[in-house]
Amino acid sequence: MVREIAVPGDKSISHRALIFAALAEGESRISSLLVSADTSSTAAVLRTLGVPLPELSDEMIVSGVGLRGLRKAASDLDCGNSGTTARLICGMAAALPFSSRFTGDASLSKRPMRRLAKPLEEMGARFEFANSDGLPLVVHGGPLRDYEFVNETASAQIKSALLLAGLLSSATVTVREPRMSRDHTENMLRATGAALAVERGSCTIRPGGILSAFELSVPRDPSSAAFLAARAALTPGMSLRFPRVCLNPTRTGFLAVLRRMGAEVSLVEADERELGEIVGDIVVTGANLRATQVLADEVPALLDELPLVACLAARAEGETRVTGAGELRLKESDRISTVVTNLRTLGVDAEELPDGFIVRGAGGPLGGRVQTHGDHRIAMAFAVLGAASGNGIQVDNPGCVSISYPGFWAELRALGEE
Ligand code: S3P
Repeated sequence: MVREIAVPGDKSISHRALIFAALAEGESRISSLLVSADTSSTAAVLRTLGVPLPELSDEMIVSGVGLRGLRKAASDLDCGNSGTTARLICGMAAALPFSSRFTGDASLSKRPMRRLAKPLEEMGARFEFANSDGLPLVVHGGPLRDYEFVNETASAQIKSALLLAGLLSSATVTVREPRMSRDHTENMLRATGAALAVERGSCTIRPGGILSAFELSVPRDPSSAAFLAARAALTPGMSLRFPRVCLNPTRTGFLAVLRRMGAEVSLVEADERELGEIVGDIVVTGANLRATQVLADEVPALLDELPLVACLAARAEGETRVTGAGELRLKESDRISTVVTNLRTLGVDAEELPDGFIVRGAGGPLGGRVQTHGDHRIAMAFAVLGAASGNGIQVDNPGCVSISYPGFWAELRALGEE
């Protein structure tokens, strides 16, 4: 029998569902939302801006305040550990007729904000940094002018921030990207009635229109499913089914890599979409894995899964090489250095590259203590490697999985007992 695992709602879509419901006219109904530390940060910031959001839960009704309804915050906007909260809501703040001060935890405060501030300042907002880059910062919002931004890297957070700035202002904003980043913001804008045009490599939002309230059952998170899919992939013969997962092609790059490494992967798309998002089931069956290569073109569609690819590579035959992934250094931790240092601590042959890593797989026991730097995806990637290689691996901060997947340890343990 194939065991079924219901992973939580997609994190990227959950952030956006809260933001769009807050900005819509009328009552939106959201179910299967991810309730986690990161989505709680977005909810808290929206409440501070005057949105009457109820407590996060599986079934929520949100009364939107409309595109002109946000109010100046009486206190700081604390984004916690969440880059998506900080980036997307800074974009919104740039268009609001008042100033907002953003703060975050130690990890988020180290992450770059100037590359977002620059285009928003060219549009007419002003950013005041307390340090050289990162939070805390104050956004002085105001009227924005039309703008075309050509991003050198693919970033859904930056793209979304600029689209939201356009949505809340009377400016026409175009964003171009070298490779397509996840397009949940575009899907939601289109589904709720905003004036959005998407072409190959670019998208443009025009003024006018209101956002309509919506009903959404949040598709489950392919990035969370990836960890348990990897647990199955590492165990020949183990099969797991993940129902109702978001199968947006900008998010499923990991499944292609799993297939190349030798696991069996099948997808069954549902007929209905959720606000433009493809939803369906994933089934993964384990095998003896072989090494693979990941190049820049593929990176945006599996960016958050690359630490996991490194852990799978430790057990795959041959040399796995990932390049074109320099953005990994700017995540919740420097994921290139964190992954390689931890793999070496466990006895794996691994090397850093400026924009990626090399891992040479082997059998044999793995053991040691992993330093997560509070990074949820590092904790889960190494936990999976540990579970599939005899449980000799300890993780220094197991609690950090609450950022995106609070039930992770219980699910992983249940599989170990099979
Ligand atoms: C996200 C975009 C990606 C991703 C992050 C979530 C989003 O970041 O790594 O976990 O929800 O827009 P970048 O925009 O920095 O690539």
